[in-house]
Amino acid sequence: MNHILEQNNYLHVPNFLTAQEANELAQAFFSAKNKGELVSDIQAPSSLGTYNLFPCVKTMIKKVSLVSELCGEDVLPTYVYGRIYNKGEVLVRHRDRAACEISLTINLQKDETDWPIWIQKPNGEEVSLNLNPGDAMMYLGCTADHWREAYQGNMQTQVFFHYVRANGPRAYNYFDIEVAARKRGYVKMYDFDIEFAQCHGKYVKTFNPEETL
Ligand SMILES: [Fe+2]
Repeated sequence: MNHILEQNNYLHVPNFLTAQEANELAQAFFSAKNKGELVSDIQAPSSLGTYNLFPCVKTMIKKVSLVSELCGEDVLPTYVYGRIYNKGEVLVRHRDRAACEISLTINLQKDETDWPIWIQKPNGEEVSLNLNPGDAMMYLGCTADHWREAYQGNMQTQVFFHYVRANGPRAYNYFDIEVAARKRGYVKMYDFDIEFAQCHGKYVKTFNPEETL
């Protein structure tokens, strides 16, 4: 793995998306919002989001080579999630489930108010980054605490591209197949549940894949 990523738990990637790509994906979220296709979820109840918005899926796949290069290892895509955040939203300090081994949080749109993403480094230091449209923070979401304090602006759109290392211990999550199986009714208890419960602490009792992905 990229040593800087491993040593810091994150990598700042300015211009991960071109301005055009960022704008097109932001417009896709606005369009989905206008059609009533976005919903709030338990992690961000004041905001609106969706799982695997198709234009984002296409871009996540298009970026596999770049993300592999940045990671220093081959990666496989798992899923995308994105939200239009509203004023007052807080992202409680947490870690992510196994499908989020190598993740990027990417800014697509913001107003004049910055909203830093915080992450804890392996040495315990807590650092924050401000992202502009197209910029990403690549991070190790399964092992690093990350969070955002209360948002003071009015609207910001973020998308998360999630990957796993193709030769790593979480590779079995490619295309988020365990969740896909759940959605089709092939429900089975996997390590997924245990890991999710450990990462999300207080959300364990209310876990519902439809609400929390
Ligand atoms: Fe997260």
